[in-house]
Amino acid sequence: MSGLSRYGGWALITGASSGLGREFARQIAAEGVNCVLVGLGQDALNALANELGEKHGVTCRPLEVDLASDDAVSDLAERLADLPIRILVNCAGVAHGGAFETRNPDKLKQLVQLNCLAPLLLTRALLPQMLERQAGAVIIVSSLQAFISCPNEAAYCASKAFLMHFGESLWGELKNTPIDCLTVCPAGMKTDFFKAEGFSQADCDRMWRFSSSPEDIAKLALRDLGRKTISAPLMTRFSAFLARILPRRWAIAIVTRVTRGLVDHKQL
Ligand SMILES: NC(=O)c1ccc[n+]([C@@H]2O[C@H](COP(=O)([O-])OP(=O)(O)OC[C@H]3O[C@@H](n4cnc5c(N)ncnc54)[C@H](OP(=O)(O)O)[C@@H]3O)[C@@H](O)[C@H]2O)c1
Repeated sequence: MSGLSRYGGWALITGASSGLGREFARQIAAEGVNCVLVGLGQDALNALANELGEKHGVTCRPLEVDLASDDAVSDLAERLADLPIRILVNCAGVAHGGAFETRNPDKLKQLVQLNCLAPLLLTRALLPQMLERQAGAVIIVSSLQAFISCPNEAAYCASKAFLMHFGESLWGELKNTPIDCLTVCPAGMKTDFFKAEGFSQADCDRMWRFSSSPEDIAKLALRDLGRKTISAPLMTRFSAFLARILPRRWAIAIVTRVTRGLVDHKQL
């Protein structure tokens, strides 16, 4: 059997209310897979559930869950105990850019809970049933910034490096099982991500000069699933290669130069 229906069961996508998560949901539903749509905005999730039901005839459960809150994942797993989740897409994520000493400690904690802890615990909750059924896929959305450390994005870069090591290690654990594991590393995408961080439209436009669309990143990832450890566009692969061959301090100096003047993070 080809396509995503080979896994059987449902998909669960976090961050499905916008950007890359929404695109994953659209492309997974287009293959006839029922979806649990997890995010913060109930209206956006409901609208997507209706859209996918009408277009593809799939059933969707839109669930507003704050994955940065304590016990969110265990509560979610309990609510979904009746569903055979076979595809998990860990996509929800936030950044909290700016000079580290000025960052809000509560927001830093939320960033780690959402970006690191939620994917870890959600995967831990759902993997046993995939292994039991001998079918499943785990997708983990990391970033180019897993490879390249970026001043003023310390917590975000650290969280994405965490995800990349988690995803690659898990791939190694699962490679002799029928469960596929893939880490996705986009470079830059035209989504609401930067606006949510407080960047102006002009800054977004400058950053998006070399960006990919979330449609293309999701398409590439679903094609690479079961074939590769990491799914990344050319821009990420080239930058990661440079970061590997250059002395670390040079790589950081280049990133500092590229991002200088883009935004005065201290005003965020
Ligand atoms: N955009 C880029 O250039 C880029 C590059 C590399 C990697 N990434 C990664 O790609 C992933 C998706 O980002 P995106 O670009 O699609 O940005 P986005 O449009 O802002 O999507 C982020 C998603 O996460 C959800 N979310 C935020 N806080 C949450 C919480 N506490 N609980 C549950 N859901 C929450 C958002 O829900 P609401 O919309 O309802 O708030 C939204 O659905 C992130 O992990 C990001 O780090 C993005």
